[in-house]
Amino acid sequence: MPVLQQQRHSETAHRQRVSSAKFQPLAMPALDYTGEVAEATAEAYEKVRHVIPAIEWPAYAPYIKAINDLKRQRNAVILAHNYMTPEIFHGVADIVGDSLQLAKEAATSQADVIVQCGVHFMAETSKILNPDKTILMPDMAAGCSLAQSITGADVRALRQKHPGVPIVTYVNTSADVKAECDICCTSSNAVEVVESLGAPRVLLVPDKYLAANVALRTTVEILTWEGACVVHQRFTGAEMREYRNSVPGVKIIAHPECPTDVTAEADYTGSTAGMINWLKENSPKKALLVTECSMADNVASQAPGVDFVRPCNLCPYMKMITLPKILESLVHMRAEVTVDPAIAARARTAVERMISLKS
Ligand code: 13P
Ligand code: SF4
Repeated sequence: MPVLQQQRHSETAHRQRVSSAKFQPLAMPALDYTGEVAEATAEAYEKVRHVIPAIEWPAYAPYIKAINDLKRQRNAVILAHNYMTPEIFHGVADIVGDSLQLAKEAATSQADVIVQCGVHFMAETSKILNPDKTILMPDMAAGCSLAQSITGADVRALRQKHPGVPIVTYVNTSADVKAECDICCTSSNAVEVVESLGAPRVLLVPDKYLAANVALRTTVEILTWEGACVVHQRFTGAEMREYRNSVPGVKIIAHPECPTDVTAEADYTGSTAGMINWLKENSPKKALLVTECSMADNVASQAPGVDFVRPCNLCPYMKMITLPKILESLVHMRAEVTVDPAIAARARTAVERMISLKS
């Protein structure tokens, strides 16, 4: 064998040995609360001390140290949605953000392994954008009521019923559904995506409330589907008015997955990242985040001085992701998210079309 070819052959063999060693199951690390663990997690504790009492930290800290050590061993990154619990958000996440930010990060990640701390459609989006990477989901049952509300066959039927009408699908959908649409959107760019198509009429599926909120901000006619988010559909306009009356000066910040009688009462409506930016820029004394509960817990350390008024609703799916499950995931390299390559290729076109828009 010529020298150069021999060299390449041995480099490839070396890479394969390293890579398969990287993916071997490892021993479960010790989970004692030692001085070393306390020191390694002290910075994270400062960011969560407003929600986790000091007496409870020894139950979290060993997991945080073990997960951070394992990430280095596996060349893994953790992408965490803004709805993750504070110990995940501040303790082990490398990248945090809303759905659009996480999709953009997934597209440029240099890691071999992505652990998706969020729900299944987010892990699928990461896999669609990174077919050669290992995408792990700490709990495969972490779904989403919106993603469950529509199938690829439903989108094909819609296309037949509305020939020539472009279809925008919210990122909160399965790969199958993304594969059938023209372009994806998230809550932070839905208006821009709809208007980018230059059509008088657009189907925006599956969230009927996101669609209704977009319809209020554009002249494009919006057709939709009967999907809703179990977290945001429960808020009501009457509830918002009661808060406004009982908490003088409160600023109401709502997610566009809320019904329009809720967003009509809001001082600001936007994605979870939009909410965080609005809080940082406006520093209100009192704020009501009309969204998932962990948002206020996570943002509190970034927006000191804001008094967060409840209510909030828990997302049962997001809350399936826990530190012990993330650790198991990195120790055993499971559960790996896969997407049929033919479906992934079509879905990628829709996701990349969205990512390539300016904002
Ligand atoms: P964003 O973080 O994109 O606003 O989405 C919220 C959500 O419900 C994700 O499931
Ligand atoms: Fe789905 Fe709503 Fe939970 Fe987000 S908050 S994952 S949209 S059910």
